[in-house]
Amino acid sequence: MKKLYLIGKSLKHSISPLIHNKILSNFGIDAVYSNVELPDFEKLKEFVEMVKKDGDVVGFNVTIPYKEDILEFCDEVSEDVRIIQAANTVKKENGKLKAYNTDWIGFKKSLEEVNIDVKDKKILILGAGGAAKACIYGFYKMGAKQIFVANRTYEKATRLRDYFREFVQLQVINWLKKESYEYDIIINTTPIGMFPEVEKSPFDIREYRFNLLLVYDTIYNPPLTKLLKEAELKNINTSNGLKMLIYQAIEAEKIWWNIAKDIEQFEKEELDVLSRNVLMTY
Ligand SMILES: NC(=O)c1ccc[n+]([C@@H]2O[C@H](COP(=O)([O-])OP(=O)(O)OC[C@H]3O[C@@H](n4cnc5c(N)ncnc54)[C@H](OP(=O)(O)O)[C@@H]3O)[C@@H](O)[C@H]2O)c1
Repeated sequence: MKKLYLIGKSLKHSISPLIHNKILSNFGIDAVYSNVELPDFEKLKEFVEMVKKDGDVVGFNVTIPYKEDILEFCDEVSEDVRIIQAANTVKKENGKLKAYNTDWIGFKKSLEEVNIDVKDKKILILGAGGAAKACIYGFYKMGAKQIFVANRTYEKATRLRDYFREFVQLQVINWLKKESYEYDIIINTTPIGMFPEVEKSPFDIREYRFNLLLVYDTIYNPPLTKLLKEAELKNINTSNGLKMLIYQAIEAEKIWWNIAKDIEQFEKEELDVLSRNVLMTY
């Protein structure tokens, strides 16, 4: 049986094995996907050595905090990874490791379902970490031109602005003053509001005086964060991070097994069922 893994820290609540094993069984692929907790960089090194030796390992996903560290061990990177400088998917081919990023595709696909043309919209991204990078790259690919970034650590947001300068103009907003400006779309990429701290919100929607078209939270546990609840109370469109997670998983499976054709069918027919099953596990 072939093997796939998710590596990272604090994976106890991860639902990735549920999603991937469902996709694998749907396609009749004889493989199993499981989590591997790696407490430090030394363990990451050991894991990579194990992967290179084990002929049954096809690839692995990478999550916090190794999305950047993993690049050091990869022989090749995709064009997207070269730009984003973070990978969430690695494939082993002829003993060599190639890094991919499917987070941004997951984000883009989930956003496309909401059916808003983002090209002329004012977009606020909360946070400046790995998920923010994936969302910004996704927006760049969708042709967005007015992207604002607010982050607790201001310098990290300015670094992000400089980093993406070649592709998209980002404007940095002071975290403490972010509610004073007008946006059409808000994307939360911070962990504020995530289980167990469900009473927190990264943005005061209740007091916000401008009209919003969409509030999107990359968090999926809980499915309805405080941020999204408050947006729904004001009749604003909302979306959580579950579809992003599922779509990025499907994209990773496509890469590992060179699937292109039938998976599109799977996406349409099974995604809703899978979302419901995943939500029932909370
Ligand atoms: N749905 C999906 O498929 C998906 C995929 C990836 C990530 N995510 C979500 O995105 C979140 C962030 O992931 P990441 O990879 O971007 O992590 P990361 O690289 O560690 O970045 C976290 C960001 O959140 C900010 N932050 C953290 N705690 C904060 C707090 N208490 N107050 C204000 N800002 C805070 C950090 O600000 P500083 O710079 O000041 O530290 C940083 O900008 C995850 O928790 C997850 O919920 C979802």
